[in-house]
Amino acid sequence: MIILLLLALLLAGCEKIESVFVEEDLLQRPEAKRCMDCHADIYREWKESRHYHAWVSDQFRIESENYSKLKCLPCHAPHQVDAGKKPVLRTEFRKDGVSCVACHFKEETKSMHGPLKVWSPPHPSRQDLSYTRSTFCAGCHQETFKEWKRAKAQKSCQACHMPSLGKKDLIQKFPFYLLHLSKPRTSHRFPTLKAQPEDIELSLKEGHLVIKNVGVPHNLPTADQGDPRLYLIAEVVFQNGRKRTLRKRFSPQTKTALGYMEEKRIKLPPGDIKEVKVRLLRKLAWKEEKDLILEATLRSPSPAHAGLSTQGEGRR
Ligand code: HEC
Ligand code: HEC
Ligand code: HEC
Ligand code: HEC
Ligand code: HEC
Repeated sequence: MIILLLLALLLAGCEKIESVFVEEDLLQRPEAKRCMDCHADIYREWKESRHYHAWVSDQFRIESENYSKLKCLPCHAPHQVDAGKKPVLRTEFRKDGVSCVACHFKEETKSMHGPLKVWSPPHPSRQDLSYTRSTFCAGCHQETFKEWKRAKAQKSCQACHMPSLGKKDLIQKFPFYLLHLSKPRTSHRFPTLKAQPEDIELSLKEGHLVIKNVGVPHNLPTADQGDPRLYLIAEVVFQNGRKRTLRKRFSPQTKTALGYMEEKRIKLPPGDIKEVKVRLLRKLAWKEEKDLILEATLRSPSPAHAGLSTQGEGRR
Protein backbone atom coordinates (compact mmCIF):
# COMPACT_ATOMS: atom_id res chain seq x y z
CA MET A 1 0.00 0.00 0.00
CA ILE A 2 2.71 2.43 1.06
CA ILE A 3 4.76 1.45 -1.96
CA LEU A 4 1.79 2.15 -4.25
CA LEU A 5 1.28 5.53 -2.61
CA LEU A 6 4.94 6.39 -3.05
CA LEU A 7 4.77 5.30 -6.67
CA ALA A 8 1.72 7.49 -7.29
CA LEU A 9 3.48 10.44 -5.70
CA LEU A 10 6.58 9.81 -7.74
CA LEU A 11 4.58 9.66 -10.99
CA ALA A 12 2.73 12.87 -10.13
CA GLY A 13 6.11 14.40 -9.36
CA CYS A 14 7.47 13.29 -12.73
CA GLU A 15 4.60 14.91 -14.54
CA LYS A 16 5.33 18.13 -12.66
CA ILE A 17 9.01 17.88 -13.48
CA GLU A 18 8.13 17.43 -17.13
CA SER A 19 5.76 20.39 -17.11
CA VAL A 20 8.55 22.45 -15.53
CA PHE A 21 10.56 21.88 -18.71
CA VAL A 22 7.71 22.84 -21.06
CA GLU A 23 8.46 26.11 -22.80
CA GLU A 24 4.90 27.39 -23.09
CA ASP A 25 5.52 29.77 -26.01
CA LEU A 26 6.37 26.78 -28.24
CA LEU A 27 2.68 25.83 -28.09
CA GLN A 28 1.58 29.37 -29.00
CA ARG A 29 2.55 29.11 -32.68
CA PRO A 30 5.88 30.95 -32.56
CA GLU A 31 7.98 32.08 -35.54
CA ALA A 32 10.10 29.40 -37.22
CA LYS A 33 13.20 31.15 -35.85
CA ARG A 34 12.19 29.97 -32.39
CA CYS A 35 12.54 26.31 -33.43
CA MET A 36 16.16 27.10 -34.35
CA ASP A 37 17.01 27.50 -30.65
CA CYS A 38 17.11 23.70 -30.46
CA HIS A 39 16.64 22.33 -34.02
CA ALA A 40 19.42 24.44 -35.57
CA ASP A 41 20.38 22.02 -38.38
CA ILE A 42 16.80 21.41 -39.52
CA TYR A 43 16.10 25.14 -39.45
CA ARG A 44 19.12 25.88 -41.66
CA GLU A 45 17.97 23.31 -44.21
CA TRP A 46 14.39 24.56 -44.27
CA LYS A 47 15.54 28.18 -44.65
CA GLU A 48 17.16 27.19 -47.99
CA SER A 49 14.09 25.28 -49.15
CA ARG A 50 11.32 26.46 -51.47
CA HIS A 51 8.92 25.98 -48.57
CA TYR A 52 10.55 28.86 -46.75
CA HIS A 53 10.45 30.96 -49.97
CA ALA A 54 6.77 30.21 -50.67
CA TRP A 55 5.53 33.60 -49.41
CA VAL A 56 8.51 35.91 -50.01
CA SER A 57 9.11 34.66 -53.57
CA ASP A 58 9.05 37.64 -55.99
CA GLN A 59 7.21 35.59 -58.58
CA PHE A 60 4.51 34.67 -56.08
CA ARG A 61 4.16 38.27 -54.89
CA ILE A 62 3.74 39.47 -58.48
CA GLU A 63 1.35 36.72 -59.57
CA SER A 64 -0.80 36.96 -56.46
CA GLU A 65 -1.05 40.70 -57.23
CA ASN A 66 0.79 41.73 -54.12
CA TYR A 67 -1.02 39.15 -51.98
CA SER A 68 -4.43 40.54 -52.90
CA LYS A 69 -5.70 37.39 -54.66
CA LEU A 70 -6.99 35.61 -51.58
CA LYS A 71 -7.47 32.23 -53.23
CA CYS A 72 -3.70 32.08 -53.85
CA LEU A 73 -2.61 32.50 -50.26
CA PRO A 74 -3.51 29.39 -48.18
CA CYS A 75 -0.96 26.92 -49.64
CA HIS A 76 1.79 29.56 -49.53
CA ALA A 77 1.21 30.43 -45.82
CA PRO A 78 -0.84 27.56 -44.36
CA HIS A 79 -2.21 27.48 -40.83
CA GLN A 80 -2.08 23.71 -40.34
CA VAL A 81 -1.16 20.88 -42.68
CA ASP A 82 -3.39 17.81 -42.49
CA ALA A 83 -2.87 14.88 -44.84
CA GLY A 84 -5.01 15.22 -47.97
CA LYS A 85 -6.67 18.53 -46.96
CA LYS A 86 -6.19 21.91 -48.58
CA PRO A 87 -5.01 24.20 -45.77
CA VAL A 88 -6.53 27.50 -44.65
CA LEU A 89 -4.60 30.78 -44.54
CA ARG A 90 -2.55 31.61 -41.46
CA THR A 91 -2.91 34.98 -39.77
CA GLU A 92 0.55 35.30 -38.18
CA PHE A 93 4.14 35.26 -39.53
CA ARG A 94 3.17 34.76 -43.16
CA LYS A 95 6.76 35.46 -44.25
CA ASP A 96 7.64 32.01 -42.85
CA GLY A 97 5.78 30.53 -45.86
CA VAL A 98 5.23 26.78 -45.44
CA SER A 99 6.58 26.82 -41.90
CA CYS A 100 7.68 24.38 -39.17
CA VAL A 101 4.66 25.20 -37.02
CA ALA A 102 2.22 24.76 -39.93
CA CYS A 103 3.60 21.32 -40.78
CA HIS A 104 4.17 20.03 -37.22
CA PHE A 105 1.90 21.72 -34.67
CA LYS A 106 -1.67 20.42 -34.29
CA GLU A 107 -4.31 22.52 -32.57
CA GLU A 108 -6.29 19.39 -31.60
CA THR A 109 -3.54 17.95 -29.39
CA LYS A 110 -1.53 21.12 -28.69
CA SER A 111 1.62 19.19 -29.52
CA MET A 112 4.19 18.64 -32.26
CA HIS A 113 3.37 15.69 -34.49
CA GLY A 114 6.16 13.91 -36.33
CA PRO A 115 7.35 10.57 -37.66
CA LEU A 116 9.28 9.49 -34.53
CA LYS A 117 8.67 8.39 -30.98
CA VAL A 118 10.51 10.96 -28.89
CA TRP A 119 10.78 12.34 -25.37
CA SER A 120 10.73 16.08 -25.79
CA PRO A 121 10.38 17.94 -22.47
CA PRO A 122 10.24 21.48 -23.95
CA HIS A 123 7.12 20.63 -25.95
CA PRO A 124 4.85 17.57 -26.09
CA SER A 125 5.35 15.41 -29.23
CA ARG A 126 3.25 12.67 -30.79
CA GLN A 127 4.27 10.01 -33.23
CA ASP A 128 2.10 10.26 -36.33
CA LEU A 129 2.91 8.02 -39.28
CA SER A 130 0.93 10.16 -41.74
CA TYR A 131 4.17 12.19 -42.00
CA THR A 132 5.86 9.40 -43.90
CA ARG A 133 3.18 9.13 -46.61
CA SER A 134 2.59 11.02 -49.85
CA THR A 135 -0.92 12.07 -48.76
CA PHE A 136 0.79 14.43 -46.31
CA CYS A 137 1.91 16.51 -49.33
CA ALA A 138 -1.33 16.07 -51.29
CA GLY A 139 -3.42 18.96 -49.94
CA CYS A 140 -1.10 21.48 -51.65
CA HIS A 141 0.67 19.47 -54.38
CA GLN A 142 -2.72 18.38 -55.67
CA GLU A 143 -1.99 17.79 -59.37
CA THR A 144 1.38 16.19 -58.70
CA PHE A 145 -0.21 13.85 -56.18
CA LYS A 146 -2.81 12.74 -58.74
CA GLU A 147 -0.07 12.10 -61.31
CA TRP A 148 1.95 10.17 -58.73
CA LYS A 149 -1.05 7.96 -57.91
CA ARG A 150 -1.61 7.24 -61.59
CA ALA A 151 2.06 6.22 -61.90
CA LYS A 152 1.54 3.62 -59.12
CA ALA A 153 4.98 4.48 -57.77
CA GLN A 154 6.55 2.47 -54.97
CA LYS A 155 8.38 5.43 -53.50
CA SER A 156 6.71 8.21 -51.52
CA CYS A 157 7.27 11.93 -52.20
CA GLN A 158 9.37 12.00 -49.03
CA ALA A 159 11.63 9.13 -50.20
CA CYS A 160 12.82 11.36 -53.07
CA HIS A 161 12.22 14.94 -51.88
CA MET A 162 13.10 14.44 -48.18
CA PRO A 163 15.99 12.01 -48.61
CA SER A 164 17.36 10.27 -45.52
CA LEU A 165 20.43 11.86 -43.91
CA GLY A 166 21.10 8.79 -41.74
CA LYS A 167 21.06 9.01 -37.95
CA LYS A 168 21.78 12.47 -36.56
CA ASP A 169 20.89 14.60 -33.53
CA LEU A 170 17.49 16.26 -33.83
CA ILE A 171 18.66 19.04 -31.54
CA GLN A 172 21.86 20.98 -31.22
CA LYS A 173 21.16 22.85 -27.97
CA PHE A 174 23.28 22.19 -24.91
CA PRO A 175 22.61 20.30 -22.67
CA PHE A 176 19.54 18.72 -24.31
CA TYR A 177 21.44 16.81 -26.96
CA LEU A 178 23.39 14.97 -24.28
CA LEU A 179 20.13 13.42 -23.11
CA HIS A 180 19.09 12.12 -26.53
CA LEU A 181 20.36 9.46 -28.88
CA SER A 182 20.80 10.19 -32.60
CA LYS A 183 17.70 9.45 -34.65
CA PRO A 184 16.79 9.09 -38.33
CA ARG A 185 16.90 12.50 -40.03
CA THR A 186 15.43 13.55 -43.37
CA SER A 187 16.47 16.53 -45.47
CA HIS A 188 14.38 19.63 -44.81
CA ARG A 189 15.90 21.26 -47.92
CA PHE A 190 13.10 19.51 -49.83
CA PRO A 191 15.42 19.26 -52.87
CA THR A 192 13.76 19.75 -56.26
CA LEU A 193 16.16 17.17 -57.77
CA LYS A 194 16.81 16.84 -61.51
CA ALA A 195 15.84 14.11 -63.92
CA GLN A 196 18.83 11.90 -64.84
CA PRO A 197 19.63 10.82 -68.42
CA GLU A 198 18.39 7.31 -67.65
CA ASP A 199 14.99 8.71 -66.66
CA ILE A 200 14.39 9.66 -70.31
CA GLU A 201 14.07 7.27 -73.25
CA LEU A 202 14.68 8.66 -76.72
CA SER A 203 14.21 6.86 -80.02
CA LEU A 204 13.60 7.36 -83.74
CA LYS A 205 10.46 5.63 -84.93
CA GLU A 206 8.47 5.87 -88.17
CA GLY A 207 9.66 9.35 -89.08
CA HIS A 208 9.31 10.62 -85.52
CA LEU A 209 11.55 11.47 -82.62
CA VAL A 210 9.97 9.75 -79.62
CA ILE A 211 10.54 10.88 -76.03
CA LYS A 212 9.33 9.02 -72.95
CA ASN A 213 9.63 9.72 -69.21
CA VAL A 214 10.53 6.33 -67.75
CA GLY A 215 12.00 7.43 -64.41
CA VAL A 216 10.14 10.29 -62.71
CA PRO A 217 6.83 9.03 -61.26
CA HIS A 218 4.88 12.22 -61.98
CA ASN A 219 4.66 14.56 -64.97
CA LEU A 220 7.92 16.05 -66.16
CA PRO A 221 7.77 18.86 -65.35
CA THR A 222 4.98 18.86 -62.77
CA ALA A 223 3.15 21.83 -61.25
CA ASP A 224 -0.07 23.03 -59.70
CA GLN A 225 0.49 26.74 -60.21
CA GLY A 226 4.09 27.32 -61.21
CA ASP A 227 5.32 27.36 -64.81
CA PRO A 228 8.33 25.04 -65.04
CA ARG A 229 9.39 23.93 -68.51
CA LEU A 230 11.30 21.30 -70.40
CA TYR A 231 13.03 22.32 -73.64
CA LEU A 232 13.98 19.87 -76.33
CA ILE A 233 16.35 21.03 -79.04
CA ALA A 234 16.95 18.54 -81.84
CA GLU A 235 19.46 19.15 -84.61
CA VAL A 236 18.51 16.95 -87.55
CA VAL A 237 21.53 16.14 -89.77
CA PHE A 238 20.72 14.84 -93.26
CA GLN A 239 22.93 12.44 -95.26
CA ASN A 240 23.87 15.30 -97.62
CA GLY A 241 25.15 17.38 -94.69
CA ARG A 242 22.17 19.74 -94.52
CA LYS A 243 20.92 20.58 -91.02
CA ARG A 244 17.64 21.64 -89.47
CA THR A 245 16.84 22.48 -85.86
CA LEU A 246 13.55 21.52 -84.20
CA ARG A 247 12.48 23.02 -80.90
CA LYS A 248 9.77 21.75 -78.63
CA ARG A 249 8.57 22.92 -75.24
CA PHE A 250 6.80 20.77 -72.66
CA SER A 251 4.98 22.39 -69.74
CA PRO A 252 2.13 21.72 -67.32
CA GLN A 253 0.52 25.07 -68.15
CA THR A 254 0.11 24.10 -71.83
CA LYS A 255 -0.83 20.52 -70.82
CA THR A 256 2.13 19.15 -72.74
CA ALA A 257 4.24 17.79 -69.83
CA LEU A 258 5.58 14.25 -70.20
CA GLY A 259 3.36 11.88 -68.23
CA TYR A 260 5.06 8.90 -66.62
CA MET A 261 5.61 6.16 -69.24
CA GLU A 262 3.76 8.20 -71.85
CA GLU A 263 5.27 8.62 -75.33
CA LYS A 264 5.40 11.98 -77.08
CA ARG A 265 6.10 11.99 -80.82
CA ILE A 266 7.73 14.82 -82.70
CA LYS A 267 7.48 14.68 -86.48
CA LEU A 268 10.83 14.74 -88.27
CA PRO A 269 11.24 16.63 -91.56
CA PRO A 270 11.21 14.47 -94.72
CA GLY A 271 14.55 13.49 -96.25
CA ASP A 272 17.39 11.08 -95.74
CA ILE A 273 18.33 11.58 -92.08
CA LYS A 274 21.81 10.61 -90.87
CA GLU A 275 21.48 11.48 -87.20
CA VAL A 276 19.57 13.58 -84.69
CA LYS A 277 21.47 15.41 -81.94
CA VAL A 278 19.21 15.99 -78.97
CA ARG A 279 19.61 18.33 -76.01
CA LEU A 280 17.07 18.36 -73.19
CA LEU A 281 17.04 21.23 -70.68
CA ARG A 282 14.75 22.19 -67.86
CA LYS A 283 13.72 25.50 -66.38
CA LEU A 284 12.28 25.56 -62.88
CA ALA A 285 9.35 27.82 -62.00
CA TRP A 286 11.41 30.00 -59.66
CA LYS A 287 14.75 30.20 -61.47
CA GLU A 288 15.78 31.91 -64.69
CA GLU A 289 18.74 29.71 -65.69
CA LYS A 290 18.16 26.44 -67.46
CA ASP A 291 19.84 23.16 -66.43
CA LEU A 292 20.99 20.49 -68.89
CA ILE A 293 19.35 17.08 -68.38
CA LEU A 294 20.92 15.19 -71.27
CA GLU A 295 22.71 15.28 -74.60
CA ALA A 296 22.43 12.34 -76.98
CA THR A 297 22.97 11.47 -80.64
CA LEU A 298 20.44 9.17 -82.28
CA ARG A 299 21.47 7.45 -85.50
CA SER A 300 18.82 6.93 -88.10
CA PRO A 301 18.09 3.25 -88.62
CA SER A 302 19.21 2.01 -92.06
CA PRO A 303 16.29 1.57 -94.50
CA ALA A 304 16.38 -2.21 -93.96
CA HIS A 305 15.65 -1.63 -90.29
CA ALA A 306 13.25 1.24 -90.71
CA GLY A 307 10.74 1.31 -87.89
CA LEU A 308 13.09 -0.08 -85.25
CA SER A 309 13.94 2.21 -82.36
CA THR A 310 17.44 3.46 -81.74
CA GLN A 311 18.91 4.08 -78.32
CA GLY A 312 20.73 7.33 -77.74
CA GLU A 313 24.41 7.56 -77.02
CA GLY A 314 25.77 9.33 -74.00
CA ARG A 315 23.15 7.85 -71.73
CA ARG A 316 24.20 6.31 -68.48
C1 HEC B 1 0.97 23.81 -47.20
C2 HEC B 1 1.19 23.42 -48.57
C3 HEC B 1 2.31 22.48 -48.88
C4 HEC B 1 2.56 21.22 -48.35
C5 HEC B 1 1.77 20.46 -47.31
C6 HEC B 1 3.74 20.73 -49.02
N1 HEC B 1 4.20 21.65 -49.93
FE1 HEC B 1 5.81 21.48 -51.13
N2 HEC B 1 5.53 23.37 -51.82
C7 HEC B 1 4.47 24.19 -51.48
C8 HEC B 1 4.59 25.47 -52.17
C9 HEC B 1 3.63 26.64 -52.08
C10 HEC B 1 5.79 25.39 -52.93
C11 HEC B 1 6.36 26.45 -53.86
C12 HEC B 1 7.16 27.45 -53.11
C13 HEC B 1 7.79 28.48 -54.06
O1 HEC B 1 8.70 28.11 -54.79
O2 HEC B 1 7.33 29.64 -54.04
C14 HEC B 1 6.35 24.05 -52.68
C15 HEC B 1 7.52 23.58 -53.25
C16 HEC B 1 8.00 22.28 -53.11
C17 HEC B 1 9.16 21.74 -53.79
C18 HEC B 1 10.08 22.50 -54.72
C19 HEC B 1 9.50 22.54 -56.13
C20 HEC B 1 10.30 23.38 -57.08
O3 HEC B 1 9.69 23.94 -58.01
O4 HEC B 1 11.52 23.50 -56.92
C21 HEC B 1 9.27 20.42 -53.45
C22 HEC B 1 10.31 19.43 -53.94
C23 HEC B 1 8.19 20.14 -52.53
N3 HEC B 1 7.45 21.29 -52.33
C24 HEC B 1 7.97 18.91 -51.94
C25 HEC B 1 7.02 18.67 -50.95
C26 HEC B 1 6.88 17.42 -50.24
C27 HEC B 1 7.73 16.19 -50.47
C28 HEC B 1 5.86 17.58 -49.36
C29 HEC B 1 5.32 16.58 -48.37
C30 HEC B 1 6.27 16.06 -47.40
C31 HEC B 1 5.35 18.93 -49.51
N4 HEC B 1 6.08 19.56 -50.48
C32 HEC B 1 4.30 19.48 -48.79
C33 HEC B 1 3.42 23.88 -50.64
C34 HEC B 1 3.34 22.73 -49.88
C1 HEC C 1 -3.66 24.14 -53.57
C2 HEC C 1 -2.48 24.87 -53.11
C3 HEC C 1 -2.03 26.10 -53.91
C4 HEC C 1 -2.77 27.21 -54.23
C5 HEC C 1 -4.23 27.51 -53.88
C6 HEC C 1 -1.86 28.10 -54.97
N1 HEC C 1 -0.61 27.53 -55.05
FE1 HEC C 1 1.03 28.38 -55.92
N2 HEC C 1 2.06 26.65 -55.61
C7 HEC C 1 1.58 25.54 -54.95
C8 HEC C 1 2.56 24.48 -55.01
C9 HEC C 1 2.41 23.10 -54.40
C10 HEC C 1 3.67 24.99 -55.73
C11 HEC C 1 4.96 24.24 -56.04
C12 HEC C 1 5.19 23.94 -57.51
C13 HEC C 1 3.95 23.62 -58.25
O1 HEC C 1 3.41 22.52 -58.05
O2 HEC C 1 3.47 24.49 -59.02
C14 HEC C 1 3.31 26.36 -56.10
C15 HEC C 1 4.14 27.21 -56.81
C16 HEC C 1 3.79 28.48 -57.25
C17 HEC C 1 4.66 29.33 -58.04
C18 HEC C 1 6.04 28.97 -58.53
C19 HEC C 1 7.08 29.16 -57.47
C20 HEC C 1 7.55 30.56 -57.34
O3 HEC C 1 7.72 31.02 -56.19
O4 HEC C 1 7.79 31.23 -58.37
C21 HEC C 1 3.96 30.48 -58.26
C22 HEC C 1 4.43 31.69 -59.04
C23 HEC C 1 2.66 30.32 -57.64
N3 HEC C 1 2.60 29.09 -57.01
C24 HEC C 1 1.64 31.26 -57.69
C25 HEC C 1 0.36 31.03 -57.25
C26 HEC C 1 -0.76 31.91 -57.55
C27 HEC C 1 -0.69 33.19 -58.37
C28 HEC C 1 -1.87 31.35 -56.97
C29 HEC C 1 -3.32 31.83 -57.07
C30 HEC C 1 -3.87 31.92 -58.41
C31 HEC C 1 -1.42 30.13 -56.28
N4 HEC C 1 -0.08 29.98 -56.48
C32 HEC C 1 -2.25 29.30 -55.53
C33 HEC C 1 0.36 25.42 -54.31
C34 HEC C 1 -0.68 26.31 -54.43
C1 HEC D 1 14.03 24.07 -26.09
C2 HEC D 1 14.32 23.08 -27.14
C3 HEC D 1 13.30 22.87 -28.25
C4 HEC D 1 12.72 23.83 -29.03
C5 HEC D 1 12.89 25.34 -28.96
C6 HEC D 1 11.91 23.11 -30.00
N1 HEC D 1 12.02 21.77 -29.81
FE1 HEC D 1 11.21 20.32 -30.97
N2 HEC D 1 12.13 18.86 -29.86
C7 HEC D 1 12.91 19.12 -28.76
C8 HEC D 1 13.40 17.85 -28.22
C9 HEC D 1 14.27 17.68 -26.98
C10 HEC D 1 12.91 16.84 -29.09
C11 HEC D 1 13.21 15.33 -29.00
C12 HEC D 1 14.62 15.12 -29.55
C13 HEC D 1 15.09 13.69 -29.57
O1 HEC D 1 14.38 12.79 -29.12
O2 HEC D 1 16.22 13.47 -30.09
C14 HEC D 1 12.11 17.51 -30.10
C15 HEC D 1 11.43 16.86 -31.11
C16 HEC D 1 10.66 17.49 -32.09
C17 HEC D 1 9.95 16.82 -33.16
C18 HEC D 1 9.92 15.33 -33.46
C19 HEC D 1 8.53 14.80 -33.19
C20 HEC D 1 8.31 13.37 -33.63
O3 HEC D 1 7.51 12.70 -32.95
O4 HEC D 1 8.85 12.95 -34.67
C21 HEC D 1 9.32 17.81 -33.88
C22 HEC D 1 8.44 17.61 -35.11
C23 HEC D 1 9.63 19.07 -33.28
N3 HEC D 1 10.45 18.86 -32.20
C24 HEC D 1 9.18 20.28 -33.75
C25 HEC D 1 9.51 21.51 -33.21
C26 HEC D 1 9.04 22.77 -33.74
C27 HEC D 1 8.15 22.95 -34.93
C28 HEC D 1 9.61 23.75 -32.95
C29 HEC D 1 9.40 25.26 -33.08
C30 HEC D 1 8.02 25.70 -32.89
C31 HEC D 1 10.40 23.08 -31.94
N4 HEC D 1 10.31 21.73 -32.11
C32 HEC D 1 11.14 23.75 -30.97
C33 HEC D 1 13.24 20.34 -28.24
C34 HEC D 1 12.86 21.57 -28.75
C1 HEC E 1 6.28 20.82 -45.65
C2 HEC E 1 6.12 20.40 -44.28
C3 HEC E 1 7.29 20.46 -43.33
C4 HEC E 1 7.98 21.57 -42.92
C5 HEC E 1 7.85 23.00 -43.42
C6 HEC E 1 8.89 21.12 -41.87
N1 HEC E 1 8.77 19.77 -41.70
FE1 HEC E 1 9.72 18.64 -40.32
N2 HEC E 1 9.03 16.95 -41.21
C7 HEC E 1 8.07 16.92 -42.21
C8 HEC E 1 7.84 15.54 -42.62
C9 HEC E 1 6.88 15.08 -43.71
C10 HEC E 1 8.71 14.75 -41.82
C11 HEC E 1 8.86 13.22 -41.86
C12 HEC E 1 9.72 12.77 -43.03
C13 HEC E 1 9.85 11.27 -43.10
O1 HEC E 1 10.12 10.66 -42.06
O2 HEC E 1 9.67 10.71 -44.18
C14 HEC E 1 9.42 15.67 -40.92
C15 HEC E 1 10.33 15.29 -39.94
C16 HEC E 1 10.78 16.14 -38.92
C17 HEC E 1 11.50 15.74 -37.73
C18 HEC E 1 11.95 14.32 -37.39
C19 HEC E 1 13.40 14.09 -37.85
C20 HEC E 1 13.63 14.15 -39.32
O3 HEC E 1 14.52 14.92 -39.77
O4 HEC E 1 12.95 13.44 -40.08
C21 HEC E 1 11.75 16.88 -37.00
C22 HEC E 1 12.48 16.98 -35.67
C23 HEC E 1 11.20 18.00 -37.73
N3 HEC E 1 10.62 17.51 -38.89
C24 HEC E 1 11.26 19.33 -37.34
C25 HEC E 1 11.02 20.42 -38.20
C26 HEC E 1 11.42 21.80 -37.96
C27 HEC E 1 12.11 22.28 -36.71
C28 HEC E 1 11.05 22.53 -39.04
C29 HEC E 1 11.32 23.98 -39.38
C30 HEC E 1 12.71 24.44 -39.28
C31 HEC E 1 10.35 21.60 -39.95
N4 HEC E 1 10.38 20.34 -39.42
C32 HEC E 1 9.72 21.96 -41.15
C33 HEC E 1 7.42 18.00 -42.76
C34 HEC E 1 7.81 19.32 -42.60
C1 HEC F 1 11.32 8.48 -57.61
C2 HEC F 1 11.56 9.82 -57.11
C3 HEC F 1 10.44 10.82 -57.06
C4 HEC F 1 9.22 10.70 -56.40
C5 HEC F 1 8.65 9.47 -55.69
C6 HEC F 1 8.58 11.99 -56.50
N1 HEC F 1 9.37 12.86 -57.22
FE1 HEC F 1 9.01 14.84 -57.53
N2 HEC F 1 10.67 14.96 -58.70
C7 HEC F 1 11.58 13.95 -58.91
C8 HEC F 1 12.63 14.42 -59.82
C9 HEC F 1 13.83 13.61 -60.31
C10 HEC F 1 12.31 15.77 -60.13
C11 HEC F 1 13.09 16.73 -61.01
C12 HEC F 1 12.51 16.84 -62.40
C13 HEC F 1 13.31 17.82 -63.21
O1 HEC F 1 14.34 17.44 -63.78
O2 HEC F 1 12.93 19.01 -63.26
C14 HEC F 1 11.08 16.08 -59.39
C15 HEC F 1 10.46 17.33 -59.43
C16 HEC F 1 9.40 17.70 -58.59
C17 HEC F 1 8.85 19.05 -58.47
C18 HEC F 1 9.38 20.29 -59.17
C19 HEC F 1 8.75 20.58 -60.50
C20 HEC F 1 9.43 19.81 -61.60
O3 HEC F 1 8.78 18.95 -62.22
O4 HEC F 1 10.62 20.05 -61.86
C21 HEC F 1 7.82 18.99 -57.57
C22 HEC F 1 6.93 20.13 -57.11
C23 HEC F 1 7.73 17.59 -57.13
N3 HEC F 1 8.69 16.84 -57.76
C24 HEC F 1 6.81 17.14 -56.20
C25 HEC F 1 6.61 15.79 -55.89
C26 HEC F 1 5.53 15.28 -55.06
C27 HEC F 1 4.48 16.15 -54.39
C28 HEC F 1 5.65 13.92 -55.01
C29 HEC F 1 4.71 12.91 -54.37
C30 HEC F 1 3.31 12.97 -54.77
C31 HEC F 1 6.85 13.57 -55.78
N4 HEC F 1 7.38 14.72 -56.30
C32 HEC F 1 7.35 12.28 -55.94
C33 HEC F 1 11.55 12.69 -58.37
C34 HEC F 1 10.50 12.18 -57.59
